Amino acid sequence: MCNVVYFNGKFSKFSEAMTNIEDRGYQFGDGIYEVIRSYGGVPFKLREHLERLERSAEGIRMYLPWSIEGLEKICMEVLNRSKLSDADIYIQVTRGTAPRNHTYSEDIKPNLIIGAKKAKDLSEKREHGVKIILAPDVRWKKCWIKSTNLLPNIMAKQQAKEVGAFEAVQYEEDGTVTEGGSSNVFAVFNGTIVTPSLKHNILPGITRAVIIEKAAEEGINLEEGALNVEQLQEADEIFLTSTTMEVMPVVRIEEKVVGKGKPGEIARKMQEVLLK
Ligand code: PDD
Repeated sequence: MCNVVYFNGKFSKFSEAMTNIEDRGYQFGDGIYEVIRSYGGVPFKLREHLERLERSAEGIRMYLPWSIEGLEKICMEVLNRSKLSDADIYIQVTRGTAPRNHTYSEDIKPNLIIGAKKAKDLSEKREHGVKIILAPDVRWKKCWIKSTNLLPNIMAKQQAKEVGAFEAVQYEEDGTVTEGGSSNVFAVFNGTIVTPSLKHNILPGITRAVIIEKAAEEGINLEEGALNVEQLQEADEIFLTSTTMEVMPVVRIEEKVVGKGKPGEIARKMQEVLLK
């Protein structure tokens, strides 16, 4: 079992893959990415992730010279070579390598990385629930693009880590909740799940979409709307979703206890049905 990465046609270990210092991803954060989980050697929602990668590429006017089928094939080859059953597959496409200049030429060739590493087991955290902090959302206005330019997310998540919290949930100046530093947010009020709608400058999470679908199947009412920080404080339950977190119950917002102070029933139910 080891980590494997494909970089522009070659397979190696992560630690052995080298990029040029004039890779625009390195100098400008000029790139896009995806993270996909595999379970038992099978990637979960691979096509949905690749379709989002294509939309991200269009969003930054980057032309991808690979088809979805071609990318799928490389993902499977990386996964098979890694021999990992439960892996995080990381895909990154940067605009390419060129002498440093903010503007770029149209004929620049993108750099592609597809790697697999053993997935972290977060089941213990899910069992007990986690603490979050609230942080002002200082990101740009195109958060639907999964850009490698993650400074605001990094700063917010680091702030969370430094006070022993797992995630930073971001909010706009008027108090409207957007999303976590690397997750989507859901709150439960009297049995109804509420999650910020896509018009709130968030990433359209693949896990979020699965939760919306599963809630309908389970007959649980779910509203995509607006959520503000005061409402969040009063929620019966809160949970975060992402490819790597799956459904992560939140039991504290800073020092305030959420609901009964333990993972809620709806979060548990959603985790149970997520992969079914
Ligand atoms: N992040 N919002 C943001 C800002 C994210 O970075 C992510 C995922 C999500 C959840 O999306 P999905 O359900 O498609 O994973 C929401 C990945 C896991 C990361 O950056 O590592």
